Amino acid sequence: MIYGIGTDICDVRRIAASLARHGDRFAEKVLAEGELATWRERSARWPDRGLRYLATRFSAKEAFSKAIGLGMRMPMTWRHCEVAKLRSGQPVIVLHGALKEWFEAQGLQAHLSVTDETDYAASFCVVEKIQTKLP
Ligand SMILES: CC(C)(COP(=O)(O)OP(=O)(O)OC[C@H]1O[C@@H](n2cnc3c(N)ncnc32)[C@H](O)[C@@H]1OP(=O)(O)O)[C@@H](O)C(=O)NCCC(=O)NCCS
Repeated sequence: MIYGIGTDICDVRRIAASLARHGDRFAEKVLAEGELATWRERSARWPDRGLRYLATRFSAKEAFSKAIGLGMRMPMTWRHCEVAKLRSGQPVIVLHGALKEWFEAQGLQAHLSVTDETDYAASFCVVEKIQTKLP
């Protein structure tokens, strides 16, 4: 059963402006540990790919926050929602901490798709209820 859907479009130029204003602190607020390592590695080699990586993560997390119906409200936090990749390249949501506990207790499963082109990054997320709530 579909629990919720969420979508988000992110202006890559706004992410670039936030990075210019706040430096790494902006990325450290939005990205989970694993993502931060990937972002640093990509940014060092190809600054534009680092920027796009950050913009797609930003939009994916916002789309997920809408699909679960919470927005950016506890237990949803930027850093507890990680966007990882399967070997095939498909993005997957990996949760941590209180958000993971809450999500699993509700019996939920997320499906994510992300895209970007020139100045925009966009994401679509579907959250499915796979089992009844645990006691
Ligand atoms: C959801 C959220 C992350 C989107 O913020 P944003 O990037 O500024 O705005 P976007 O244009 O991407 O999305 C806005 C749309 O998200 C949707 N949205 C808002 N809250 C939502 C929620 N809890 N669940 C799902 N979707 C939500 C609405 O459709 C909204 O459009 P609308 O304002 O025309 O009704 C942000 O609004 C949020 O964190 N909301 C929860 C906290 C909150 O609402 N605090 C103030 C309470 S008064």
